[in-house]
Amino acid sequence: MGIKLGILGLGTVGTGTVQLLQDHVGRHPLLQLVEIYRVGVKSIDKPRGVTLPKEVMTTDLEAIVNDPEVDIIVELIGGLEPARELILKAIQNGKHVVTANKAVISRFGTEIFTTANQNRVYVMLEASVGGGIPVIQPLKQSLSVNRIHTVTGIVNGTTNYILTRMQTEGSSFESVLADAQRLGYAEADPTADVDGADAADKISILASLAFGGRINREEVNCEGIRQVSKTDITYADKLGFVIKLLAIAEKISSSFLSVRVHPTLVPKAHPLANINGVYNAILVEGDPLGQVMFFGPGAGAGATASAVSSDILNLIARLQYQQADDAPIDPLLGCSHQDYCQIAPISQLTTRFYARFLTKDQPGVIGKLGTCFGEYGVSLESVVQTGFQDELAEIVVVTHDVKEGDVKQALEEIRTFEAIDSIPSLLRVL
Ligand code: NDP
Ligand code: HSE
Repeated sequence: MGIKLGILGLGTVGTGTVQLLQDHVGRHPLLQLVEIYRVGVKSIDKPRGVTLPKEVMTTDLEAIVNDPEVDIIVELIGGLEPARELILKAIQNGKHVVTANKAVISRFGTEIFTTANQNRVYVMLEASVGGGIPVIQPLKQSLSVNRIHTVTGIVNGTTNYILTRMQTEGSSFESVLADAQRLGYAEADPTADVDGADAADKISILASLAFGGRINREEVNCEGIRQVSKTDITYADKLGFVIKLLAIAEKISSSFLSVRVHPTLVPKAHPLANINGVYNAILVEGDPLGQVMFFGPGAGAGATASAVSSDILNLIARLQYQQADDAPIDPLLGCSHQDYCQIAPISQLTTRFYARFLTKDQPGVIGKLGTCFGEYGVSLESVVQTGFQDELAEIVVVTHDVKEGDVKQALEEIRTFEAIDSIPSLLRVL
């Protein structure tokens, strides 16, 4: 029996997936059962990197999800609508779905998985996090016997590529972003990468799997890399750190999680410090496992096609060796979360901070900074006057572990000091 795919989208990931499926020699033999039955796109006349029969291509995506011949819908158009609507329609029509769309899953997961369970179909999302890295199935299956306490990841290829090249070549942010777009790493709207939203979508998905509950995406604290300057990269380097956009989900008490995305100073000896370019890595810590790190290419056509095709393979196996139509959803493949995890506000986070100040070059400024931080209970690890920018002195402060709310309050007051010109950076330290 052939398995008929309806693929929505033939861009970077769609093209990579079709290329992989058309060239199945040496891959899992079940892939030979795949028939690329329909492919939906926006512009039918666009030149494509793959050859498909003319009758396979269409701009009518609704017709694909409503076609009774189609077994599996592979959603690779991205964005929220019409992706959400098409996924829901496919599910209601009894089709399994494979998607790489973290934006739609992190925001509409509840609606999508509830509908999937009601219709006894699976929504597979391996490609939604970490590009080619298998991390979704491991979290659902092999690692789920552990009590996970922290998931820390570099989960956005575009920003890691930008930060790496800013660090190693001193390149400008804009020129490197253009390269990431050309290489097919960036989202259609790259602000989702640069401002951290893509990483926040991904950590919402990982947190949900690791901590066994739904995550309200709106509650995920999200900061991107626009504020990271070459100056901070250089200071971080001198202090023994590299700057990475980290996505972190951690259990901070018996009831609360902290789920957040922000540029972070990572000690050079930490395993995530050496993840460069478009590579992603996800460090999972749990009990009794200890630490395990997943590493691999986090974006790009071939890597993501591997993840998409692995989900297709899983579904082919189920369709081929299917149990009765009324069999319940397999809890290791489907989603059975009912409740929302409680997420603590970022003000309650306890972490170390790096702050850079531009001040008038006057005696006593460092003393005043130290006194003010002290009044808010913020203990300092180091304070250094590092040099001058024009006429202004540059002072870099690194704190001990302190409450974020206390640091922010201290900075509010420091901003009002006559000697303070500006506070160009405030970054967290891992
Ligand atoms: P692209 O922009 O390269 O491709 C999108 C495809 O969808 C295009 O073929 C486009 O048609 C089609 N499309 C978009 N909107 C519509 C619509 N309304 N109706 C019909 N067709 C439509 O995106 P990517 O391949 O890069 O990304 C696809 C998904 O994969 C996204 O969810 C993304 O987040 C995710 N992803 C991407 C990765 C990457 O490295 N690029 C990695 C992991 C996940 P046309 O070609 O005619 O314009
Ligand atoms: N734009 C995403 C990234 C694609 O750069 O990581 C992979 O999800």
